[in-house]
Amino acid sequence: MNETINPLPGRPVRESISEMSEHALPNDANALGNLFGGKVMSLVDLAGALAAIRHARCPVVTASVDYLNFIHPVHIGQLVILRSSVNRVFRTSLEVGVQVTVEDLLTGDRKHTCSAYLTFVAVDTHGGKVLIPPVIPETDQEIRRFTEADERRRIRLEMRAKRQSS
Ligand SMILES: CC(C)(COP(=O)(O)OP(=O)(O)OC[C@H]1O[C@@H](n2cnc3c(N)ncnc32)[C@H](O)[C@@H]1OP(=O)(O)O)[C@@H](O)C(=O)NCCC(=O)NCCS
Repeated sequence: MNETINPLPGRPVRESISEMSEHALPNDANALGNLFGGKVMSLVDLAGALAAIRHARCPVVTASVDYLNFIHPVHIGQLVILRSSVNRVFRTSLEVGVQVTVEDLLTGDRKHTCSAYLTFVAVDTHGGKVLIPPVIPETDQEIRRFTEADERRRIRLEMRAKRQSS
């Protein structure tokens, strides 16, 4: 993936780790009275973009989102907490992981609701692609995510190539 020829100085994962939260309100409810899945998807995209922009320090566009599986519904009144971090930088693209947790504000109980990997591409103000500084994983967890991101990228690009050729 040519990361080795990236001449830019690296930035540690910790510098762009982001957290945001949103109170689930009735105007975003589905017919069952839970939070509409599309609202969660939008929050995941936003949370992912935060970490990506903080790392790249330039605008980014979402290229792909991998496998968003909803494990639990989000009930109206709960707090949705989204934590995002850069797993790996390739050249003009990077992978961000987003973890979504819901908190029952009355009891403090927290549940993991979904996780996703998103790929963002860094762009300049004319929409041209921009080289991104490498990311430096420091903790064991960051190193594991960095290592595993390579295989995910391979699968992602293989699927993209199949779609383009069909
Ligand atoms: C994503 C986009 C910039 C890719 O542009 P492109 O000209 O096809 O770019 P390339 O093939 O040169 O790919 C650029 C980088 O993106 C990566 N990429 C492109 N499509 C990808 C995908 N579907 N999944 C993962 N990575 C992808 C490439 O691997 C490459 O990475 P690298 O530079 O780190 O090696 C372009 O398709 C685009 O602008 N899409 C719309 C984005 C958008 O508007 N998102 C919001 C949707 S509402």
